[in-house]
Amino acid sequence: MQSAISTLFQKEVNSSFHKISLLNNIPKQGVDLMQSVIKRLKMDKMFDTSQLLQFITFLVNCCKEDEDRLIALTWQKDSANYIYAHPVNVCIYSLSIGCKLSFTDKQLTYLGMAALLHDVGEIKLPERMRGKAAKFTESELSAMRQHPKLGYELLKRFPYIHEDVLMGVLHHHERIDGSGYPSGHIGRFIHPLGKIIAVAEIFDAMTSDRHSATSIPATDVLKVIYSKSGKHYEPEVVNALITITGMYPVGSLVRLNGGQLAVVLKKNMADLSKPEVLVITDTNAQPIAQYTVNLLGDKYNRQIMYAENASQLKIDTNKYLQSFIAIPKKKT
Ligand SMILES: [Fe+2]
Repeated sequence: MQSAISTLFQKEVNSSFHKISLLNNIPKQGVDLMQSVIKRLKMDKMFDTSQLLQFITFLVNCCKEDEDRLIALTWQKDSANYIYAHPVNVCIYSLSIGCKLSFTDKQLTYLGMAALLHDVGEIKLPERMRGKAAKFTESELSAMRQHPKLGYELLKRFPYIHEDVLMGVLHHHERIDGSGYPSGHIGRFIHPLGKIIAVAEIFDAMTSDRHSATSIPATDVLKVIYSKSGKHYEPEVVNALITITGMYPVGSLVRLNGGQLAVVLKKNMADLSKPEVLVITDTNAQPIAQYTVNLLGDKYNRQIMYAENASQLKIDTNKYLQSFIAIPKKKT
């Protein structure tokens, strides 16, 4: 019998993107899907690949229709379920990068599958290591570095998993200067899907609160990733990520030159430093009736001074994105 998720996505795979309730449910349904996949793998049983394929196809359609709105969903961080929510976000970023790099639908399917499954090898690590807040010991670190290989071996037993998916899983921690793991391959020996997942994975991990670290503002994370472009990460992939997120990714908290705080809603391709923002405070940091400003061509010449750390200021930017996500985009 088909599950609710399967039925839902089968009906909607080729339908219009303007199914806002479906869109809003993506993070929750992605977590449910990953929970069922991990549960099956822990029992050494094959999971239902058709459910994953339907979910990925739906994400690809969303990405092609309105990338910003899809990316906005990744800011609904689910720290309590990080192990399941993280692969969903990695999948969204990976697919967005794949679209930017003009991947075919088949390539996007393999990429999405590899992104969702990239860390399944962790279930083969000792229980005490999963969710460990303290630093790993030397022996734990070397065990952890085997998780891409463990994932590859776990999945290759299943004939339905394509070789490209396996290689994406195996190579997602390799770095193009050879400093990655488990094999220390240099760039030309790293599978393209591994290179994309590497960038998507680090961006979501560093912008999330997780057991081992607190989140860092997305703009600062982009700077870190950019500084390692050509060393750790494939420049073409890094550039694609920055094109997708803009200099100030959707959901970023920023300080305007007048002192107001604002949340980034939408990038402007014509100038990635001047997105559309939702102003949430006055110049004295007092809450106000919020209003949107398109900084590109703003008649008052409002500009972003710098990115703020929303966690430190205890501001949940996600709640400001809800109304943005919920407004259907008009077809032009
Ligand atoms: Fe990993």
